[in-house]
Amino acid sequence: MNFLQERIEKDGRVLSERVLKVDHFLNHIVDPALMDQIGKAFSNYFKDEKPTKVLTIESGGIAPAFMTALYLNVPLVYAKKALPSTMDHPISTEVYSFTKQKTYTICMEQEAIAPGDRVLFIDDFLADGQAFKGVEDLITQSNAILCGCGFCIEKSFQKGRSYLLEKGYPFYSLAPIQKMVDGKIYWLED
Ligand code: G4P
Repeated sequence: MNFLQERIEKDGRVLSERVLKVDHFLNHIVDPALMDQIGKAFSNYFKDEKPTKVLTIESGGIAPAFMTALYLNVPLVYAKKALPSTMDHPISTEVYSFTKQKTYTICMEQEAIAPGDRVLFIDDFLADGQAFKGVEDLITQSNAILCGCGFCIEKSFQKGRSYLLEKGYPFYSLAPIQKMVDGKIYWLED
């Protein structure tokens, strides 16, 4: 088990067979020392892909993506879920959330990712991969290259993993969950 899996077992809570609560250290109350370890791990794993930008979606992905960008010494871009009036040339796409059963728009400034940029996508969770598909579309619209995807927690039993494998993107999940049964987490490599 790595440092994140240990922390999830210590401080996370399995709410159901599909939902894990990690808001005491990852996506509400945020542990900066843990984010530092996560950033180090992702940057080590993906450095040979030579990313020129790190991309995430607000809000849960920002902390781990920020630390990854810091270690890679490249800018962080986070796609927004509401269109700010200050954006000059926004590009956008629609994302369907199965969890919330609704479609929302994600957007970013066109210049945030330049044609040819090598983009590393980092997020807190990979579930059904709908948010990832939105990001994939934004990167395509920017004529950039998706050079890797890093997820803190992957719920491997949902559809996102097979989509990423099918597409052949380099991806790495620090805490891949095979299943959650009776409050216990079974890790993918176990
Ligand atoms: P998908 O993008 O992979 O298809 O995922 P889905 O629509 O099912 O989930 C979307 C939101 O739910 C994401 O946050 C994601 O981080 C979160 N999420 C998914 N599974 C879990 C889980 O087991 N536990 C927790 N705590 N969150 C989960 P979001 O709506 O984009 O919100 P946020 O990043 O602003 O918090």
